[in-house]
Amino acid sequence: MIFSMICLFLVMNPLKALYYTVNQCKSTSVSSDQENLKRQSAAKALDIILPKLYEDSIIGIGTGSTVDFFIEMLAEKNPVFKAAVSSSERSLKLLEQKGIEVSLLNDVGGPDIYIDGADEYDDKKQLIKGGGGALTREKIIAYSAREFICIVDESKKVNRLGSFPLAIEVLEYARSFVAREIVKLGGKPTYRTGFVTDQGNQILDVLNLDYAVPYELEIRLNRIPGVIENGIFAQKTATKIIVATQNGVEIID
Ligand code: 5RP
Repeated sequence: MIFSMICLFLVMNPLKALYYTVNQCKSTSVSSDQENLKRQSAAKALDIILPKLYEDSIIGIGTGSTVDFFIEMLAEKNPVFKAAVSSSERSLKLLEQKGIEVSLLNDVGGPDIYIDGADEYDDKKQLIKGGGGALTREKIIAYSAREFICIVDESKKVNRLGSFPLAIEVLEYARSFVAREIVKLGGKPTYRTGFVTDQGNQILDVLNLDYAVPYELEIRLNRIPGVIENGIFAQKTATKIIVATQNGVEIID
């Protein structure tokens, strides 16, 4: 950091360089604050589930940076449980790297507990997920799990869902058709270029939808032919949300 500051002062107007450096420091501390909160949320989830784990327990593992912290902490604690089921190839890789036994959902009866993050949550424990593009498997595991614990930092709280672009997984063949149908609903879809889901499909990220009744929107979007799944979790909400805030960790039951 010191070296890059000196370089900046040499090549830039000193005032501009100072402004740039202050902003760099600000953005680093904001993201490390958030990272810290994500760790706290993951740690609390681990505390909560540890007494519930037995030799035959199955843990469902979501996807994202908060879940990555959870996987690391789980591996470090190394409690007794049967296996994990993963919602993505990304999490699968990390689980395997950490030496955690992984089963296929088809081979187990559904996880006892599912741990996953979210892009938005509201006070009804409704969620928007899919920022990482793993929404379809995430929803399958959420539905098959006995308990769904969502781990987030306070930045994910909203009064009404819909500020975060909604990920909709679509068949490549149907992408333009689905996009036009979404426009008819008032939505503004953007194709997530260069991204292919674990199932080989594509993602449309959609803004400007009407979230007055989130579960109705969830059902309506899934009725469009070519839609595999969308990232609204309103029919199946979280059982519990663990929110790490600057003032401590809160639990919404
Ligand atoms: C992935 C997801 C993630 O849970 C969501 O994007 C939150 O990610 P992060 O923990 O990195 O903030 O839905 O599809």
